[in-house]
Amino acid sequence: MIVPKLVIGNYEFRWPIVQGAMGVRVSAHPLPATVTNLGGLGTITSLGLGSIDADQETFARVSREALVEEIRKSRDLSYGGTDKPLALNVMGVLSNVNDLVTTAVANGIKIIVYGAGIPSKLPKIVDDDSVMLIPMINSARLATGIIDLWWKFYKRAPDALLLEGPLAGGHLGYTGYQLAHLDECFLEKILQEVVEAVRPYEQMLGRRIPIIAAGGIYTGADAARMLHLGAAGVQLGTRWVVTDECPAAREFKQAYLDARQEDIQIIHSPVGMPGRVIHNSFLEKLAAGEVRKRCPYKCISVCDIRHAGFCIAEALFNAKEGKLDDGLIFAGANVHRVDRIMPAKELMTELVEGIKASPLELPCSV
Ligand SMILES: Cc1cc2nc3c(=O)[nH]c(=O)nc-3n(C[C@H](O)[C@H](O)[C@H](O)COP(=O)(O)O)c2cc1C
Repeated sequence: MIVPKLVIGNYEFRWPIVQGAMGVRVSAHPLPATVTNLGGLGTITSLGLGSIDADQETFARVSREALVEEIRKSRDLSYGGTDKPLALNVMGVLSNVNDLVTTAVANGIKIIVYGAGIPSKLPKIVDDDSVMLIPMINSARLATGIIDLWWKFYKRAPDALLLEGPLAGGHLGYTGYQLAHLDECFLEKILQEVVEAVRPYEQMLGRRIPIIAAGGIYTGADAARMLHLGAAGVQLGTRWVVTDECPAAREFKQAYLDARQEDIQIIHSPVGMPGRVIHNSFLEKLAAGEVRKRCPYKCISVCDIRHAGFCIAEALFNAKEGKLDDGLIFAGANVHRVDRIMPAKELMTELVEGIKASPLELPCSV
């Protein structure tokens, strides 16, 4: 296969490979800048940057300052940064989501990826068409729903769509039933439905709405399959965790290396969505009622600690810091295939070479 560039509006990336956001600083500097410098698109996470015990106002201020610092570091060329475009991921359920978006744009971020919530007001919050707006979707219905809504109220269409399938790591936009019946909602199937559904809108707009496919993509051959089906790019999470440049603790990466297929499980997250994790002692403590209930961060608008059972930001942060006994380890469905930690450059080369080696072809519309 000829490896296509990823084009999102005015921005062009040499390889159609995106590093997905991973909250609580798993995808913090230097990972996104490294991936972007390697020719892909790196995504900075905005979730859990300002993790402190504080009231909501202080939490928002600290998050904002931490985001500005994260962007500054990612831009610092003397510190492994990049001068190329970077994406920022926000979750609609964050209590300070609008503040994070406006702070990122004011600090030069040109690509906003919006998940865990419907971005109904995003074009109003970012009234600047040099900033690319990418909603995360899980179905053709959601894709067309967002396009119709944005067109009706703002005469704007998404600059790309990020389709995350049910095999992804972290929070999942699927029901427990769907996750138990994966044959009914596998990524290839939904991707084809989304490609079909957006085609009339592309004709109306006279431009492509690139679709980036994510979830369970492990090899270059997997990526080529998505490109063959009409994706403009692919996003990976799990595989970027086990790179030297990912700032997660060694213990977190070791949990990926040790994971067996039977260790991967779905939990119900306080965010109100299912999440895919690696089974560990923290989950056993949680089941036994031995995890202290507290809400130190006030980060998620829909989270009620009385029902949630635990603070997800704290549990994710503990895991990222290597405190696995008190931590929740998000991972994708293919994490059991991970067998080593490698430099990001090696992973990028492996993926690109894998796409090149594929006998599949790009669809004619590309
Ligand atoms: C540790 C971890 C944390 C994640 N955190 C986020 C997040 O904060 N926001 C988000 O939109 N996606 C998050 N994701 C999803 C990834 O960005 C990516 O789409 C997904 O992992 C792709 O599936 P894969 O892991 O099979 O490659 C996370 C994934 C992992 C593994």
